[in-house]
Amino acid sequence: MKPADKIIVALDVKTEKEALALVKKLKGKVGVFKIGKELFTACGPAIVKKVQKLGGKVFLDLKFHDIPNTVAKAVLQATKLGVYMMTIHTSGGVEMMKAATQAAKEAAPKGKAPILLGVTILTSLDDKTLKEIGFKYTPEQMVIRLAKMAKAAGLGGIVSSPKEVKKLRKALGASMFLVTPGIRPIWAAVGDQKRIMTPKDAVKAGVDFMVIGRPITASKNPAQAADLIAKEIA
Ligand code: C5P
Repeated sequence: MKPADKIIVALDVKTEKEALALVKKLKGKVGVFKIGKELFTACGPAIVKKVQKLGGKVFLDLKFHDIPNTVAKAVLQATKLGVYMMTIHTSGGVEMMKAATQAAKEAAPKGKAPILLGVTILTSLDDKTLKEIGFKYTPEQMVIRLAKMAKAAGLGGIVSSPKEVKKLRKALGASMFLVTPGIRPIWAAVGDQKRIMTPKDAVKAGVDFMVIGRPITASKNPAQAADLIAKEIA
């Protein structure tokens, strides 16, 4: 994998025009384009096809969480769209994750199943909120617990904070992809991110893919920003 292939750009925009302009500028400079709830809800599945038509791999970040049958059917449709990676919530349980894995395998051409990534505990949830919901474990304990369940159910990776990567790598071994947002090169504005890490430190910690939004997309020259980050992680 080239250093630039580790970069996933978050297309956190609401129009097709803005999204495709970014893809055109960044094609070949980053590995994957992340389409999340805002862009997908605004533009529909057509936006996935349009990004792919420009040569971009798509990470469909819709964080599915529902009963096993419903999640499996949604994963099947995403697989038919040809997405490269996608997210589901691990707290949907092992049966749900297994159904999703099975659906992706069945719907994909041989060896082309999307990488299913498990979301564990959202970084917006702290200890207090988890207790309020009724969880008896700390966020850190929950993340490891859910990640192990995801591995057992056949998922391909985990989305986590960069600060959790070392512990996750230890708990999961080398076979699972670790994907982390909260990445900030030293030259970029921190914005609303709290527990951040630089691209270089993230790679050192064992991150496989990093989700980067504003340091690239809000830059005056997104292509140059992506190049700088790729150079840093090389
Ligand atoms: O602009 P920025 O680099 O902060 O974008 C990070 C991306 O990763 C956004 O799409 C954000 O929604 C996503 N994300 C995050 N923290 C999480 C999960 C997802 O920042 N815990």
